[in-house]
Amino acid sequence: MLVRRAIYPGSFDPVTNGHLDVIQRAATLFDELVVAVACNAEKKALFTTQERMQLLVDAVAPLQNVRVASFGGLLVNFARSEKASAVVRGLRAISDFEFEFQMALMNRKLEPNIETLFLMPREEYTSISSRVVKEIAQLGGNIDQFVPDKAASALHQKFAATHTA
Ligand code: PNS
Repeated sequence: MLVRRAIYPGSFDPVTNGHLDVIQRAATLFDELVVAVACNAEKKALFTTQERMQLLVDAVAPLQNVRVASFGGLLVNFARSEKASAVVRGLRAISDFEFEFQMALMNRKLEPNIETLFLMPREEYTSISSRVVKEIAQLGGNIDQFVPDKAASALHQKFAATHTA
């Protein structure tokens, strides 16, 4: 039986409600969705790969056909190893487009059999990014409406030392 599988790759540092919205949408389009945390040594993450994966595992627990994995190296190699036919990326605004377009076309040059699909999260999530959420949390702001509960607690914990110092 042909299983339609897609990869949703990202840094997920940490997962936001915007990511979750894209995951929910993609999960309805494919038999299986693999949410893949990139362990890219160049990008300095706040959370370890394991922490980022665990926050995702908690967030996607209600979704039967979603699994969490991590990958290093080229995305297309990981997608191939997972026998995925598509890569899903979220598009929030025009500002996302240039980078996403370049990445999609380069990935297509590397692996013509894997399509990139762009999904738009609900409007209320279009201004959310992991980077901004981390900044707000670090400065003591309330981030509960932007990220899943466990991610909010994890962010509060990470920055607790800063606030009490
Ligand atoms: O959440 P992000 O940081 O926007 O995700 C970017 C990510 C991890 C999807 C992208 O950097 C990636 O695919 N990295 C893996 C390395 C790779 O394949 N690079 C070539 C892409 S053209």
